[in-house]
Amino acid sequence: MKFANRMSRLGTETAFEVMAKAKALEAQGKHIVYLQIGEPDFPTPKHIIDAGVAALQAGETHYSPAAGIMPLRQAIVEEVAARRGVRPEVDEVVVTPGAKPIMYFLIMACVEIGDEVIYPNPGFPIYESVINFVGAKPIPLPLREEKDFRFDPDEFRSLVTDRTKLIIMNTPANPTGGILTREDIAVVADVARERGILVLSDEVYKNIIYEGTHHSLYSLPDMKEQTILLDGFSKTYAMTGWRLGWGCMPKEIARRVEQLMINCNSCTATFSQYAGIQALQGPTEEVDAMVEKFRKRRDFIVNGLNQIEGISCILPKGAFYVFPNIKQIGMGSQELESYLLHEAGVSILSGTAFGKYGDGYLRFSYANSVENISIGLDRIAQALAKL
Ligand SMILES: Cc1ncc(COP(=O)(O)O)c(C=O)c1O
Repeated sequence: MKFANRMSRLGTETAFEVMAKAKALEAQGKHIVYLQIGEPDFPTPKHIIDAGVAALQAGETHYSPAAGIMPLRQAIVEEVAARRGVRPEVDEVVVTPGAKPIMYFLIMACVEIGDEVIYPNPGFPIYESVINFVGAKPIPLPLREEKDFRFDPDEFRSLVTDRTKLIIMNTPANPTGGILTREDIAVVADVARERGILVLSDEVYKNIIYEGTHHSLYSLPDMKEQTILLDGFSKTYAMTGWRLGWGCMPKEIARRVEQLMINCNSCTATFSQYAGIQALQGPTEEVDAMVEKFRKRRDFIVNGLNQIEGISCILPKGAFYVFPNIKQIGMGSQELESYLLHEAGVSILSGTAFGKYGDGYLRFSYANSVENISIGLDRIAQALAKL
């Protein structure tokens, strides 16, 4: 079978492939500790499940408008107004099956062959994949460990050219757990305004933050007109399987994204959207408790990793990932990922799964119990001691 050329430019999310390898080992009887998965291990809060079930039972089993049901879009308007201090119009909101399609549709709609797109590296792998897929040029913006995995402003400015069409930012970040400061986003906004460049601000982890404050590019003066705010329900409300996300963007872009929705999905599952209203408007205690549990796990895993010879790990301020430095171990990140899976039965990801600047690091997700994290760390220490 000869596939279309463009498929050779499409990347992937290695997390799903590593998961398949780990499951295959498990099927052969090996015990695996899963520390690679990017989703909360908590159940979706009950009031949200109840709202989804009630919608199904009330007959909400049909297509919805392509851009989403009006009450959910209105709830998103209120959420953005409350959290970002800027009120979008309801026509500027598009609901999608997960937040991922917003990045795909936006890049499909706005980025031409040969355009340049600046994106964080190490960063969520789908950015680079889709930039390549549309024939644009990916321009990696290195995130530096010595800067708590933030970027250097001069380095950022040096990457901007007349061909820069889009800048992608992600705070709190996958895979590093780093957050951007007010000064960082101001630098991006200044350049974007000066040069008329679009910004995609991926804020899916905005509620999972332990120190500091979440700063949104969407909130900065005049940035609403050139920012695509991407957010969703997967991480905050433990709703990965409901496939529910959204974007807020200037109207003319929203209509293109809606058109792509019509071509691909028709709409987002209607009952999921009703559950989403409840997520935004219902009680927040369970989400708060989840974030508190994540904080304890973060402290536990960072402390544990720093006790293993050859590993050093800074304390991330957000999301549920740590990105330890393994350069002292003397093994490449990918080799170490494979060694730890087979030797220790611990499934983690090589930093290179997130781009070339992830070399020398591993990504651990602490969306697992303290007990399992503890078993995983012990086994890693034993496996490394054998080297
Ligand atoms: C940075 C980032 N953005 C977006 C997403 C997409 O989430 P979803 O499509 O489940 O809403 C993820 C998921 O891992 C992510 O890590």
